[in-house]
Amino acid sequence: MGFSELFILLFTLHSLLAMASRQPTAPKSYLFSEYIGAEDNNVKFSDVPINPNVEFHYILAFAIDYTNSSSPSPTNGEFKIFWDTHNLSPSQVSSIKTQHTNVKVALSLGGDTVRGKTCNFTVSSVDSWVSNAVSSLTKIIQEYNLDGIDIDYEHFVSDQVTFVECIGKLITALKNNGVITFASIAPFDDDDEVKRNYMALWKSYAHVIDYVNFQFYAYDKGTTVSQFMRYFQTQRDNYGGGNILASITTEGSGGLSPKNGFFTACNMLKSQGKLGGVFVWSADNSKASGFKYEKQSQALLATRHKNFSV
Ligand SMILES: *[C@@H]1O[C@H](CO)[C@@H](O)[C@H](O)[C@H]1NC(C)=O
Ligand SMILES: *[C@@H]1O[C@H](CO)[C@@H](O)[C@H](O)[C@H]1NC(C)=O
Repeated sequence: MGFSELFILLFTLHSLLAMASRQPTAPKSYLFSEYIGAEDNNVKFSDVPINPNVEFHYILAFAIDYTNSSSPSPTNGEFKIFWDTHNLSPSQVSSIKTQHTNVKVALSLGGDTVRGKTCNFTVSSVDSWVSNAVSSLTKIIQEYNLDGIDIDYEHFVSDQVTFVECIGKLITALKNNGVITFASIAPFDDDDEVKRNYMALWKSYAHVIDYVNFQFYAYDKGTTVSQFMRYFQTQRDNYGGGNILASITTEGSGGLSPKNGFFTACNMLKSQGKLGGVFVWSADNSKASGFKYEKQSQALLATRHKNFSV
């Protein structure tokens, strides 16, 4: 080998090493997550097919910091459970986790309506909200033996700085106290406050956020594979270094649907080493059709590619 080849080889090795040090862990492309429990239609953990060769997360939807009265009011961080506690109880969590060692369970904050009204992020004092949120969530997480939390606020009364400080401090405290082992965020592209708030959160607190459950199904119905690939790249740029999950909804038909090539796009991202996993909204909606896309997503994730082509 001549000098120039040696130079190229060394240069390539150097770039590969630089890349490896920027991304110390390969994307967790075998993570499958599914939201469950928001719609009171009796869906159970055991209804959902679980492939033993993926990492499987259920995300209980939702815990909310509002009273459940006819005119709901914010509770300053005192979270209450709004998922279907009859079918998704502490003993059911414990039994699904005992039967499947690849299963973890998280709860999601925000993202819902109370008595038909949208749930807003409303905080008057960061410190008291964080302190109440840490204690009320710790209680729920320990009672249900949960592993993580997901942040899904989509409407904001309080400003960006308040959102970033509250959520960043909450996740940090729950992790430092050993209450949770992972945290995710669930933004979407509204070109407005959702995007701004979550990107600001990422900027200051990316180090405590393990997964970005990006709601790609919030893009237009009829999204094509090439549009989806562009959207995915945009979010890789917005959430630099993050494990970004691709996603579909079984509720409506927004975004890139399975029929229009969702799994083709996932396979491309996976072979490029860019796929952080797949999530589905939601088990409640998939139940009627037999969880077809859950099976397909997990089969895709469980197929290991021998080499990443970077
Ligand atoms: C909220 O209140 C409504 C009406 O009383 C009730 O049907 C529902 O079960 C309550 N939800 C929770 C989570 O307490
Ligand atoms: C959240 O804010 C919206 C817009 O200001 C309002 O219409 C809605 O009632 C609020 N939700 C609650 C639960 O108060």
